[in-house]
Amino acid sequence: MDWSKLTFKYSKTNTVVSTLYSNGEWGPIKSQKEDSFNLTVFSPSLHYGMSCFEGFKAFRGVDGKVRMFRPYENARRFQRSAAFLGIPAPDEELFVKVCTQAVAENLDFLPPYESRASLYVRPLLVTTIPSCNLVPQNDGILFMVITMPVGAYAGANLHSIKSVIARDYDRAAPKGSGTVKISGNYAEAMFAGGEAVRLGYKDVLYLNPGEYKYIDEFSSANFFGIKDNTYVTPLSNTVLPSITNKSLQQIAQDLGMKMEKRKVPVEELAEFEEVGQCGTAVVITPVDTIDDKEALAAAEIKRRYHYDYGQRGCGEKSELLYKTITGIQYGELEDTHDWCLYL
Ligand code: PLP
Ligand code: COI
Repeated sequence: MDWSKLTFKYSKTNTVVSTLYSNGEWGPIKSQKEDSFNLTVFSPSLHYGMSCFEGFKAFRGVDGKVRMFRPYENARRFQRSAAFLGIPAPDEELFVKVCTQAVAENLDFLPPYESRASLYVRPLLVTTIPSCNLVPQNDGILFMVITMPVGAYAGANLHSIKSVIARDYDRAAPKGSGTVKISGNYAEAMFAGGEAVRLGYKDVLYLNPGEYKYIDEFSSANFFGIKDNTYVTPLSNTVLPSITNKSLQQIAQDLGMKMEKRKVPVEELAEFEEVGQCGTAVVITPVDTIDDKEALAAAEIKRRYHYDYGQRGCGEKSELLYKTITGIQYGELEDTHDWCLYL
């Protein structure tokens, strides 16, 4: 396999590891080679979006060791997502155990250290009992963990992208599911995301729904801006609490930067020296342009925010944050906060 050409596309790995919740308990952990399951056409996951998922990465370190980045954080968020849907989720220990087994069985697909790629781990919860009723399920819940080798989400590491503000679409409702990682949130963002790509942007930047005054996040990542040696990220009740962002907030402070988690007015985009996306898939992806449009498909760009990163294509602070977080993940830098779990 040519690891250096990896992006974020599906590829078949060795096994899928799973366990079924039935009669009040999680059953034996199973491993299968096929990456398809027999699922009733009446699964509420298919009809009503009764499913949630997670995403973290495993890395082959400079020392040859395998590190998983903060999987217990994902376990806790997974529990919150499942609770929102009213379905049972594995406890933290079981979550991490099944994920660890999935990584161990798919080590053939864990990219070598030199490639700067990683193994993406995707835990998923679906319902397997036929039902047409709009009621939560508490039996026949399938927890499965799939893996795939991945490289840069934007095609190349630290490759800057263009984004667009869409005031005619929301990713999440004010008292809805924005803070949990349920599948429906991604369905909600699919059409606007497709339109944005058609118009030449990589992703949509959402504002706080209803009011459209403050920055929320991208459809697949959190937002951060940097100015005056300060890492600024939105405080909002419609944003997914990103584990990457939480880590970067800490790293920024470790590096002697200030950190502010607060409402970020749209107009403040003009004041930032650097702007970026952060998340497991995107790691840190610099954003060089944000177009503010009343409606996504409108011809008129009300205001264009541009960030000039010169020849390097990425802001200095963003690059330092990127090198620090990936340095910890690949075992090049000391893991002072004990974030990595070794296989
Ligand atoms: N926001 C959204 C909507 C996401 O889908 C993701 C990806 O998981 C993130 C933020 C980043 O979260 P994390 O850093 O935990 O992967
Ligand atoms: C992740 O970063 O783990 C995500 O789930 C985002 C997804 C759109 C790839």
